[in-house]
Amino acid sequence: MKPLFSLNNFSFSYDGKASILDHIDLDLRRDEVVILTGENGSGKSTLCNILSKNITGFRGNVFFEEKDFSRIAPSYLFSKIVYIKEQTQQNLLGATPYEDIAIWQHRFIHKYTKHLKEERAFILKKFELDTIADKPLWECSAGQQKRTVLASLLLQSHKFWILDEPLYSIDEDGRKILLSLLVQHKTHGKGAVIATNNPNAFSIIADRIIEISKSKITILFG
Ligand SMILES: Nc1ncnc2c1ncn2[C@@H]1O[C@H](COP(=O)(O)OP(=O)(O)OP(=O)(O)O)[C@@H](O)[C@H]1O
Ligand SMILES: [Mg+2]
Repeated sequence: MKPLFSLNNFSFSYDGKASILDHIDLDLRRDEVVILTGENGSGKSTLCNILSKNITGFRGNVFFEEKDFSRIAPSYLFSKIVYIKEQTQQNLLGATPYEDIAIWQHRFIHKYTKHLKEERAFILKKFELDTIADKPLWECSAGQQKRTVLASLLLQSHKFWILDEPLYSIDEDGRKILLSLLVQHKTHGKGAVIATNNPNAFSIIADRIIEISKSKITILFG
């Protein structure tokens, strides 16, 4: 299968001096789950930000669906990928878990059909958010906020997922829910990149485990 992302001779530096990533070659297939690990500050989030066009200004070649990445429109990219950022609040759209899921469903257009209502109820229950569905998100715990963010993945099963520290503040029960989603995602031929300090938490689903260290990547598994 042709890669979704292809990085060739890729380097990136924030200040033009110290390379965060230095002459990297990396292919990511649309149907594989790749775990990206490495020490704090190694460059995992930087790479996620580059793949989602939050950061530009790299050196080398990046291709998306075999096309020059710099020419890919963000609107097209985000029809194909979803990026769950490291900072939970940056992903929250609504004032409550219920509203957040509703916005993901119909993008600020108010359409309260029976189907959408049932789908919302299903998603909130799946992530055990049903009892706090109408609680303001600023009063929700860190884990409840993160669960709300992860719940939106159920509406984006057709996309490639880029998840940066998805387990941050998530308990064991939440981890199992996310893993079940990832298993389902993979069964449908869809992949993900997951940046994490805890690669073992995803070992049952990982096709490859890649470590960033000293600006280089090493394949630990796969
Ligand atoms: N906007 C920025 N400007 C300058 N330097 C940055 C910026 N963001 C990150 N860095 C630096 O780039 C390096 C990689 O940071 P990054 O956030 O990608 O690491 P990480 O692997 O995601 O770490 P963590 O495990 O802590 O999440 C760090 O040394 C960091 O200080
Ligand atoms: Mg990070």
